[in-house]
Amino acid sequence: MNESEFIFKKKIQCDLVSEWTSPSNIALIKYWGKQDLQIPKNPSISLTLSNCRTQTRLTVSPIKKYKKKISFDLFFDGNLKPEFNKKVEQFFFRISKYVPFVFDNHFKIETKNFFPHSSGIASSASAFSSMALTIVSLERKFNDDMNDEQFYKKSSFLSRLGSGSASRSIFGKIALWGESEFFSKSSNLYSIPLVEKINPIFNDLNNTVLIVDDQVKEKSSSYGHDLMNSNPFSFQRYEQAKNNIGRIKKVFKNGDLDEFIQIVESEALTLHGLMMSSNPYYLLLKPNSVEIIRRVWDYRREYKYPVCFSLDAGSNIHLLYPSRYKKVIKEFITNELLNFCKDKKYIDDYMGSGPEKIK
Ligand code: PMV
Repeated sequence: MNESEFIFKKKIQCDLVSEWTSPSNIALIKYWGKQDLQIPKNPSISLTLSNCRTQTRLTVSPIKKYKKKISFDLFFDGNLKPEFNKKVEQFFFRISKYVPFVFDNHFKIETKNFFPHSSGIASSASAFSSMALTIVSLERKFNDDMNDEQFYKKSSFLSRLGSGSASRSIFGKIALWGESEFFSKSSNLYSIPLVEKINPIFNDLNNTVLIVDDQVKEKSSSYGHDLMNSNPFSFQRYEQAKNNIGRIKKVFKNGDLDEFIQIVESEALTLHGLMMSSNPYYLLLKPNSVEIIRRVWDYRREYKYPVCFSLDAGSNIHLLYPSRYKKVIKEFITNELLNFCKDKKYIDDYMGSGPEKIK
């Protein structure tokens, strides 16, 4: 599907409510580096989470006088949040080419996050994907030609314009975003769900997020993506990521957990290595992040349980393990790892089935 096929020109003015919840995701193969309007420099793959999600309610009402301006009020947890207006307005402008009816209506946007308070996790993936879903739901009420597949594709396409990783949250379990020689239906414009040939061992992955630092991260992802344009290792990195897509595809089929761990941890450390080799260089890991990583390695060496870590662009540690090991890994977390977490905070999450429509 090409970009122009996402344009829906019909004029819509209505009084309607549309509401969705959408989850966050954790990338196994990381997206780090982009060009133009959120076109990734390499394909990425993520696990869609379940508990960490955003709920967005969009109340639409017609505006009387047309102006080339987006009219909206944004509420977060029941309060007006003008500090988020700039990002939301930018998102609406970007998507307006494909859903021009955004100029003809006023939007009351009410969002709430189901992340534990002060966890330092503010997910643009869940926020923008839930917002995109409410908008495309609105379009669908007036677009009889849109089937389910097109609905999710367009939601992923619009989510991408808010935040690249948001495009993956539209699909449950495992999603791929970005063109890859290993997946014929892959695209830079939207994500696709990876449903075929997934070994059952990956059906019930747990993700425990160990909160090392509960403050909002020091550097935005956009800042990091931009620095990839001058990073001396960027070309090699994009090649490595492309290649890792092929490696993990095999792993998804054969269930080789050792290889899975190798790929996931290497991707996490590479992401942070890229930050450290950027100009200006920076470092988001904290001493306690490194301590936890070392302890995960020691534990795995000693007990041979298939637990590994991943990292986002922050200092918190995402532990990944099949749920059949939940009991022992929970003991390890409680007895050892929580000592290195801020106020012993953690979030238990697992691979989930994706967004849900509420209204
Ligand atoms: O979607 P963005 O622009 O917030 O970038 C996400 C970057 C990482 O979370 C570090 C990696 C990824 O693929 O999700």
